[in-house]
Amino acid sequence: MAVKGVAHRFGGVWTEIKLRALSDYLGFYQNALKNQGFETWYIDAFAGTGDRHAELKQGGIFENSPIEHVERILDGSARKALKIAPPFAHYWFAEQHRGRARQLENLKSEWPYDIQIRSGEANIELRNLFASRPWAGGNSAGRQRGVVFLDPYGMSVDWETLEVLAATQKVDVWYLFPRAAVIHQLANDIGGIDDGKRRALARIFGGDDWEDEFYRPTPAQRSLFDPAPVERKGRHATPEQIAAFARKRLGKLFCYVSDPLPLIVNGHDYFELYCLSNNRNAISLIRKGVEHVIQKYMPASRRKSAHLGGGQ
Ligand SMILES: C[S@@+](CC[C@H](N)C(=O)[O-])C[C@H]1O[C@@H](n2cnc3c(N)ncnc32)[C@H](O)[C@@H]1O
Repeated sequence: MAVKGVAHRFGGVWTEIKLRALSDYLGFYQNALKNQGFETWYIDAFAGTGDRHAELKQGGIFENSPIEHVERILDGSARKALKIAPPFAHYWFAEQHRGRARQLENLKSEWPYDIQIRSGEANIELRNLFASRPWAGGNSAGRQRGVVFLDPYGMSVDWETLEVLAATQKVDVWYLFPRAAVIHQLANDIGGIDDGKRRALARIFGGDDWEDEFYRPTPAQRSLFDPAPVERKGRHATPEQIAAFARKRLGKLFCYVSDPLPLIVNGHDYFELYCLSNNRNAISLIRKGVEHVIQKYMPASRRKSAHLGGGQ
């Protein structure tokens, strides 16, 4: 029986850009790999419900009608992936929110494909997937190929998970890097970074070398009441330098790191969408597909008040 769930409201025009870019790549991927003897997977570790409830603005002076806001149900990443032709051999969705994971189950009755749903934490579920058959061991391990979509709200992807994905050398990873959330952790003064922020930064960067990269000692201050000078470190790195550092870090794991597709929310660079791959034998093909997608969506993605043509 279909589960009627709560509406999953998220995103804006930048979300549609992200999902269309992913969809285009999935189409390219499936066409490039058809008849090659591979078993292909679409792996969505922050899958949501399959739907996206969004408020759209309609009407206005050019449509000669009053402006109104209407709620629409659009395809989320899972549904977009299920519509790709030719289809993937396997669809694998993980979602931590129980109600959303239950709604994903509805997709099984709508599509005649192998759809596997994990109601659990993305990093744990991904590690389990790649540590078990058919990815790890068995006769068909060499034939597995996939696209992994990492679409968290914030800083939820562990560096160790990226290490696992890179080590497969068989998956292309589309990673929504949370640029604004990372910068938000990096207080102007190093003293403003508490243990929780340090843990979150270590988790996303896979170490603590960000500190030497972003912070420099500032002249010691001596207060009237405290004779010992206080050593301080201030952040000198700009948002662009922080984003460049993140990209360099990703390059330590993956031999291919695409140019990022910037996703702008309310006029600010909020997220960066990357394609990462360690599939050395296929890099030139992957690069061709990814560059086409990034060039196609870059103009809309770069616009401060992003607007998409083609109807949502
Ligand atoms: C931006 S939404 C994903 C939307 C989805 N990709 C789509 O296009 O429809 C992020 C989703 O990840 C889920 N989530 C957040 N943290 C998670 C975690 N650590 N593990 C698994 N799911 C998580 C949230 O419940 C939410 O549904």
